[in-house]
Amino acid sequence: MCGIVGYVGSKQAVDVVVDGLRRLEYRGYDSAGVAIVADGALAVRKKAGKLANLRDVLDHDPTPASGTGIGHTRWATHGGPTDANAHPHVSEDGKVAIIHNGIIENFAELRAELLAAGVHLTSETDTEVVAHLLAAALPAADGDLAEAMRRVCRRLAGAFTLVAAHADMPGVVVGARRNSPLVVGRGDGENFLASDVAAFIAHTRHAIELGQDQVVELRPDRITVTDFHGAPAQVHEYEVTWDAAAAEKGGYDTFMLKEIHEQPKAVADTLLGRIKHGRLTLDELQFSEEELRSVDKIIITACGTAFHAGLVAKYAIEHWTRVPCEVELASEFRYRDPILDRHTLVIAISQSGETMDTLMALRYAKEQGSRVLAICNTQGSTIPRESDAVLYTHAGPEVAVASTKAFLTQIVAVYVFALYFGQVRGNMYDEEIQHLIAQVADMPQKVDLVLDTVEPIRALARTYADAHSVLFIGRHVGYPVALEGALKLKEIAYMHAEGFAAGELKHGPIALLEEGLPVFVVVPPPAGRSVLHEKMVSNIQEVRARGAHTIVLAEEDDDSVLDYADHIIRIPACSTLLQPLVATVPLQVFACEMATLRGFDVDQPRNLAKSVTVE
Ligand code: F6R
Repeated sequence: MCGIVGYVGSKQAVDVVVDGLRRLEYRGYDSAGVAIVADGALAVRKKAGKLANLRDVLDHDPTPASGTGIGHTRWATHGGPTDANAHPHVSEDGKVAIIHNGIIENFAELRAELLAAGVHLTSETDTEVVAHLLAAALPAADGDLAEAMRRVCRRLAGAFTLVAAHADMPGVVVGARRNSPLVVGRGDGENFLASDVAAFIAHTRHAIELGQDQVVELRPDRITVTDFHGAPAQVHEYEVTWDAAAAEKGGYDTFMLKEIHEQPKAVADTLLGRIKHGRLTLDELQFSEEELRSVDKIIITACGTAFHAGLVAKYAIEHWTRVPCEVELASEFRYRDPILDRHTLVIAISQSGETMDTLMALRYAKEQGSRVLAICNTQGSTIPRESDAVLYTHAGPEVAVASTKAFLTQIVAVYVFALYFGQVRGNMYDEEIQHLIAQVADMPQKVDLVLDTVEPIRALARTYADAHSVLFIGRHVGYPVALEGALKLKEIAYMHAEGFAAGELKHGPIALLEEGLPVFVVVPPPAGRSVLHEKMVSNIQEVRARGAHTIVLAEEDDDSVLDYADHIIRIPACSTLLQPLVATVPLQVFACEMATLRGFDVDQPRNLAKSVTVE
């Protein structure tokens, strides 16, 4: 939600900031804007719509040369996506510019106070109040922008990342964070601030995590971090492990397609270094073996696609370790008084590491005395920082709003954890673990095979481009795959789509079936003609009998489904628990192709943002 960039140095700030915004546009694209400090004034340019609109404005009305600037891409919360509501917002005297990510919860009260004091507000945003409060706080702060920021932050409630610049202070940018992301990039004679390292990775890989309730003052040769009361703060500095090329499209038409094709490598990278001599070694896991042995219940909490990964994980965790495992939407979790204690392990799954619902769920779990393990893709983000332990997925940057490689690597990471958990608790034989590890280690190759044979899926998208609805059914781990296939189609192709547990069809959704309706069916492996497989074959027949078109995803040698399939998509053979890693890929490709055919922006679907930092 909202992308933020700040720069001080000797380069043209507007170029650095706009290029940073380009890399952050996945966070929100309702409007974009910059403020550049030059010649004792602020040059502010902003425009509703995507970054391209701001670029047009800048082409016609360039900002003066300057090495100090801030910029913003917006995902609207307070006030519609208009020019007036676009950030930066400026104080009445035109001296202070502010950009913001998050929600200031006491803004109505602050706004009323400003109106009573005769301040003229020009937008409907919660952000604008901060510009006026900062300007008002400056005299008492002896003109020190960082001190003014600390004073204002102490008055704010809610979640916010704020970045400010002042017309009379070239070479100074000040940032603050509470509950929303903000990272510092340390350069050589230049420094950066951004919501995500992607914004400055082309300039530096040295990053500094900012903690909760901290204010940072950036100058070209100095970075000063304090808490909201001015006390020097401890920060954690780290090297970003990927480079600028990883955040580019690399020859693909869209980031989503590129990220779909990166999945074999992403899965392999997530396994890298974690398997030694057939055993799992999770050196980075901060839990002791004793702590793990004391766990008597696992609760997985996450949102959207990460929640679907959690649903898959439940099957594996319970099957392999016999420890009860629940999966809960993070947005529901803390509001239903869940039963938690110190023997409960809560696993928070999040690609971004910033999802507010998941963050609030993990904080709640910690308050109840539970331990929290984060499964996360973003180094240095808030969720792993606030968890007791973290297992990083090594998917690399995921830029497309629709999550793909994060999903597969989340499943792999939870499986790695589940097997390690089983290994530590001694409820799995070594040979059994070795056998399963070997199967997981084969998966990158199998995902690659699926990607080599996706052409028929594209053709299918052409066949059904005008369908008014698409259904997905699956059983066991095929059920979350069905949910994920439907989610992808909804979010990027704007088609009505639903995923169902196939056995539930007859309890209601079967009424939706009609002539020609496309229904994807995820068929479990036939291995010994399992009950699951037989039941699924019956479900396909039920669908077919009602005139719907069946698009059947089945193992390469499974011919038992041929008589009932209008279309067949072959996937490599693997064990049931691992099947989501191959069965999801055709559904991702289908959604991507469908969105392209229907003329939609695959990477930046309407109304969405990649990182959802509001509840
Ligand atoms: C779907 C999607 C979202 C995210 C969800 C959680 O394609 O991207 O549903 O999965 O917002 O985000 P993270 O994993 O960053 O917590």
